[in-house]
Amino acid sequence: MPQERVPLSRPDIGPADIEAVVAVLKTPHLSLGPKLPAFENAFAQFLGMKHAVAVNSGTSALHLVVRALGLGPADEMITSPFTFVATANCALFEGARPVFVDIDPETWNFDATKLESAITERTRLIMPVHIFGRPMPMDAILRVAEARRVPVVEDACEALGATYKGRKVGTFGIASTFAFYPNKQMTTGEGGMVVTNDERLAGLCKSMRNQGRDPEAGWLAHARLGYNYRLSDINCALGLSQLARLPEFVALRQRVAERYLAKLADVGELVLPPPYREGTMSWFVFVVRLADRFTQQDRDAVLAYLREQGIGTNNYFSPVHLQTFYRDRFGFKPGDFPVTERVAARTIALPFYNRLTEEDQDLVVETLKAAIARL
Ligand SMILES: Cc1ncc(COP(=O)(O)O)c(C=O)c1O
Repeated sequence: MPQERVPLSRPDIGPADIEAVVAVLKTPHLSLGPKLPAFENAFAQFLGMKHAVAVNSGTSALHLVVRALGLGPADEMITSPFTFVATANCALFEGARPVFVDIDPETWNFDATKLESAITERTRLIMPVHIFGRPMPMDAILRVAEARRVPVVEDACEALGATYKGRKVGTFGIASTFAFYPNKQMTTGEGGMVVTNDERLAGLCKSMRNQGRDPEAGWLAHARLGYNYRLSDINCALGLSQLARLPEFVALRQRVAERYLAKLADVGELVLPPPYREGTMSWFVFVVRLADRFTQQDRDAVLAYLREQGIGTNNYFSPVHLQTFYRDRFGFKPGDFPVTERVAARTIALPFYNRLTEEDQDLVVETLKAAIARL
């Protein structure tokens, strides 16, 4: 492989972040110290929610919520087939069945108008995903969820900082989850967060992330089955200092996205992300797709050419229902969710991060145009 000239993503770590992490290393409190509640409180305050529970990944956050809500083998969870696999896996962790709703071809979020018909007497949870940082139409989802008395948990792992109708994403359901892997809007290295206004749910998640310990009992008293999903104080310190810069990060990403949109507007072979009018996006990745007349082979040729030229790229996402173990376990097959499959076969994620220089961005655009010209 040639050396990568422009990576797909890159975290934005500044001197304050480094200082914050080093300061923790000089204390004896590397885990379960003061940075944990400090990060949780700052995060809850940012969203205007009562409780935030920090964990070691977005996947852990999803698992804890699904378990705390008591999903089990008889239950169904409705979500999108066009998402990162962990969204749906959290149902499988507890033996529940994922039920997918095909996506809207424009927004790439699941089509809220098809939600109602996916609900059965077994539906125990609806999990909207704000894909790539574009908020779902929460009014429509909550209307159906309330009418059918099914709780909503937002998978907001890709959308920290986005708003829908003036309200922050992650504040609509009974709980929501966030993730802080280094490609996210802000990072803790690895990490995640459960956010909720429900005290009982928050307490259960706190206990289960720490081996099922009961805060009132001793270190070796385990009230329930738990896990080690703790987030260290080193990560929490990084999270605190990154959170302070989140509004700046969101604005920088918006600018990079707008510049891509302007530079690619005249490329007729591409379908670009449409404008968002019901609030503000928080761009996670910048994904375009080839028009329908092109094939998956064409798309793969573009990805290969970009990589040969040292441009980081990927095919966000591969449909969840077509992953082998989903096919084997649930019998999903090609054709089950045609819009998802049509979109997923043609996506191209371009290098996208806060400090992508104009020069590098121009190189990406020129290389992408050259790749398309070769089709
Ligand atoms: C939509 C979505 N859900 C869940 C996750 C899981 O987060 P993590 O990788 O921190 O476990 C991610 C992370 O990429 C994601 O994009």
